[in-house]
Amino acid sequence: MKTLQVSLGDRSYPIYIGPGLLCKTDLFKPHVAGQSIYVVSNTTVAPLYSKKLIQTISRDAKSVHEIILPDGESYKDWATLQKIFDVMLSKGADRKSVIIALGGGVIGDMAGFAAASFMRGIRFIQVPTTLLAQVDSSVGGKTGINHPLGKNMIGAFHQPVAVIADLDTLKTLPPRELSAGLAEVVKHGAIADATFFDWIESHTKELLGCDPNAMSHAVERSCEIKSAVVAADEKESGIRAILNYGHTFGHAIESGLGYGEWLHGEAVGCGMVMAADLSARLGHIPSSDVTRIQELVTALGLPNCAPKLGNQRFFELMQIDKKSEGGEIRYITLEKIGRAKIEMADHAIVSQTLSAYQAS
Ligand code: NAD
Ligand code: GLY
Repeated sequence: MKTLQVSLGDRSYPIYIGPGLLCKTDLFKPHVAGQSIYVVSNTTVAPLYSKKLIQTISRDAKSVHEIILPDGESYKDWATLQKIFDVMLSKGADRKSVIIALGGGVIGDMAGFAAASFMRGIRFIQVPTTLLAQVDSSVGGKTGINHPLGKNMIGAFHQPVAVIADLDTLKTLPPRELSAGLAEVVKHGAIADATFFDWIESHTKELLGCDPNAMSHAVERSCEIKSAVVAADEKESGIRAILNYGHTFGHAIESGLGYGEWLHGEAVGCGMVMAADLSARLGHIPSSDVTRIQELVTALGLPNCAPKLGNQRFFELMQIDKKSEGGEIRYITLEKIGRAKIEMADHAIVSQTLSAYQAS
């Protein structure tokens, strides 16, 4: 098992990464001992893993309650969030109760937001079970839900007390979901570590085959990169925005098509190709780097061409992005593979990217 630390003063917390962690009583005990625990999961993940998790924590916890939500991005909304509060209040949850988010990014974001807002904030543990959640969403404390007008528009920063990433859970992940998670792995290489990007390029077969050594390196290096960025800028007043590389275009695709049509990681994969193209049009990187990113995204089974929403619609959707300021869209571009920056860009140049990457 590897242990990393997210360094945020008195809100610092460990990330545990390794196989078999769902059964490790010692990792959960400091947070669950003597408390009422609410395990939030969904109809797909609960039948696979909640029994094992509940067995692990039952001896130490005062009580354990399961909250099983419907599965899917389209349920990351107010109505589903309300179900968490309904159960917690009806079972007598209090300020010492602890939520455990058992699932992918949708469950982690929603259960985290429930923890951020229940009685003005209670503790929660992230137990991510998708690759995307293990390499990205479980770390950093961004929690929230979607609004029909914009992705992740309602939420709060609320750090977990621990992240427990059991690599064995990835064995049951459908291939499409594995590819979606790999998009965020590529993102970390593209924005912060050219050597890691090279490594991903030369290990696509192992990554797609869920090889244990490859997965463990991908999760560990991604968490190291993300933790360092979060520690430097927890609430995204600056540098943390680079973690949104590919997301300005990607979120527009997700909300433009309707949540759940494309997976989040698929939209990010395509969005990274578009943001690389924009970087080349702005003169930052050579077209050979755009080709590298496009080929890697394609090799990992991700789309590299956006659905035809129309340039006007794309701009409208991108304006609702949280990085926008006074209606001005801010883009994450690459200065080179391994280094990103945040900038405004001329409408006409972005239009060229949009026209080049929408399906005809
Ligand atoms: P997801 O949570 O919808 O999970 C994908 C699918 O896999 C679901 O059907 C889920 O039930 C299933 N699943 C989960 N674990 C499984 C397992 N071990 N075996 C079999 N099936 C399993 O999607 P995701 O890709 O994990 O997360 C996407 C979400 O994360 C989006 O809402 C996105 O906005 C959010 N996100 C948040 C952050 C953040 O910093 N908070 C970062 C990136 C993404
Ligand atoms: N996934 C973007 C962030 O956590 O900041």
